[in-house]
Amino acid sequence: MAYRHALNEIRIPTLERIELYERSSGETSDVVQKQLYRVPRAAEAAGEGDQALRPEGTPGVIRAYIDAGLDRSDPEQRFFYSGSMFRYERPQKGRLRQFNQFGVEIFGRADAACDAELIIMIDEFRRALGLDVRFEVNSLGDGNCRPAFRAALLEWGRAHYSELCEDCHQRLERNPLRLLDCKTDAELAKSAPRSLDYLCAPCRTHFAAVERLIGIAGVPCEVNPRLVRGLDYYTRTTFEVTSSAVGAQSAIVAGGRYDGLVEALGGAAIAGTGFAIGVERTALALAPERYGAGGAPDAAIVAIGAGAVDFAIELARELRARGRRVELLSPERGVKALLKRADKLGARYALIVGEDEIRNGVVQVKDLRAGVQTAVARAAVAAAVAGQPD
Ligand code: HAM
Repeated sequence: MAYRHALNEIRIPTLERIELYERSSGETSDVVQKQLYRVPRAAEAAGEGDQALRPEGTPGVIRAYIDAGLDRSDPEQRFFYSGSMFRYERPQKGRLRQFNQFGVEIFGRADAACDAELIIMIDEFRRALGLDVRFEVNSLGDGNCRPAFRAALLEWGRAHYSELCEDCHQRLERNPLRLLDCKTDAELAKSAPRSLDYLCAPCRTHFAAVERLIGIAGVPCEVNPRLVRGLDYYTRTTFEVTSSAVGAQSAIVAGGRYDGLVEALGGAAIAGTGFAIGVERTALALAPERYGAGGAPDAAIVAIGAGAVDFAIELARELRARGRRVELLSPERGVKALLKRADKLGARYALIVGEDEIRNGVVQVKDLRAGVQTAVARAAVAAAVAGQPD
């Protein structure tokens, strides 16, 4: 995907100065307020400022882009990156303290076609994996129209103060946009002002173009006027891709435009836009029943004698290609020990192959639950081994 979309890899460090995240992800964001893994410097280097394990890739990519002088010498750049991110969160299904992202950041492209292409790229990615997801987009406006929206939210929040939750009381003064993100007051948030009603003419035109282009590409995208992001830097287009298979932490991809950020971090006034895919959440969405938990194999293969190994490896390959969970046991141990091992693993079937079986083109399929053993023709073994559907 990265190759086909003409992206170039950028490798960014795991440690960056805390200040970088305060100035980009946002001083009032949860990522900076509650979730940074801070790494204090040694006393003699204290003046240089503390660092943190990266909670996301975007700020580090921008820092590297500016440090290399690209914002002035060659501003139009298309990057991808991947690696571990760290957030001090309460772990739960799909929410980890160390997780992996594959991210894309594009600089120097202020046009709506660029936003649309990012969303189309995610659509290609999820189609290739056969993922059933929901796309949501919104526009948060820009420096021109956002202040009026922010003021309207503030006014709404003050009018509903007694109905808001504790967290929202804090959000109200620090970052009223986050009021829309409240899980406790989701019903109440429905009556809040919508960013789309406050967009200035250029932001409206931009958003209409994004919608039109992703419509032409056939991406099934819904406009969600309450979509705000937990990070502060977004302007105009924001989007989230969710999967109901993941549970409460349903966003598997998220991103958007951040046109003022390169400048805010000391670079030239260059547009930026991007997204990040959560690798673990994607894996969860792909196969929730198989992810992480491991579990007993569908079949343990018992190869008797060195002569049966080639046959056994080929059998294992075929069954795995058909989605079965298969463990080939060590051929250097005796049948009795191997059957005991298969039992201990909780395998549903033991597949026994020795010289006789190979000669006769069969496999002994032992159902370890029922205790029944049958000789099955080699070609019919996959069908005989009940496991996950093909
Ligand atoms: P984000 O929404 O914070 O955005 O994270 C992007 C994705 O990373 C989420 O949709 C999710 O799949 C995954 N993720 C986030 N936190 C966790 C966690 N604790 N455990 C497991 N997975 C997690 C960003 O990080 C932005 N930098 C995206 C971006 C790039 N915007 C523009 N460019």
